[in-house]
Amino acid sequence: MPNETRLPIASALDIVTARQMGRSLATELGFEGIDLTLIAAAISEVARNIVEYAKGGEMIFQAVDRRPRTGLRIVATDQGPGIPDVNQAMQHGYSTRSGLGVGLPGAKRLMDEFQIESRVGVGTTITMTKWLR
Ligand SMILES: Nc1ncnc2c1ncn2[C@@H]1O[C@H](COP(=O)(O)OP(=O)(O)OP(=O)(O)O)[C@@H](O)[C@H]1O
Ligand SMILES: [Mg+2]
Repeated sequence: MPNETRLPIASALDIVTARQMGRSLATELGFEGIDLTLIAAAISEVARNIVEYAKGGEMIFQAVDRRPRTGLRIVATDQGPGIPDVNQAMQHGYSTRSGLGVGLPGAKRLMDEFQIESRVGVGTTITMTKWLR
């Protein structure tokens, strides 16, 4: 895969495209089986949050070559309202919109590394990485 691939996220269709792109890039990097499903699910949740809460942003897919480890990193950025309390948003069951509140904690659990940075009025950036076993 190229070192970096960018995808704008603004619609429900973009969520599908992001999931498919993540899956195919992960396959190119050597991921297989359940890992492909876990990565696709995490991408889907984070992309869906961008569409639901921020109305638009982008996802950057990066191949991480940190020998002997290879990974897929996804950086999701939006210029939405931001999250006032990130710790609270990461709690299972917390939702400001009658959702299940499992998207963010779920994505964290599915990936190996997960960081979230958010500033109210500025936006949110989530960086998550899966390492090849
Ligand atoms: N990109 C974002 N910008 C602003 N707020 C966000 C963003 N992503 C998540 N949030 C906030 O964090 C809360 C928790 O997100 P999470 O994805 O865990 O649950 P949910 O979207 O409410 O429900 P679910 O994903 O289970 O349908 C959201 O309700 C929302 O308030
Ligand atoms: Mg969600």
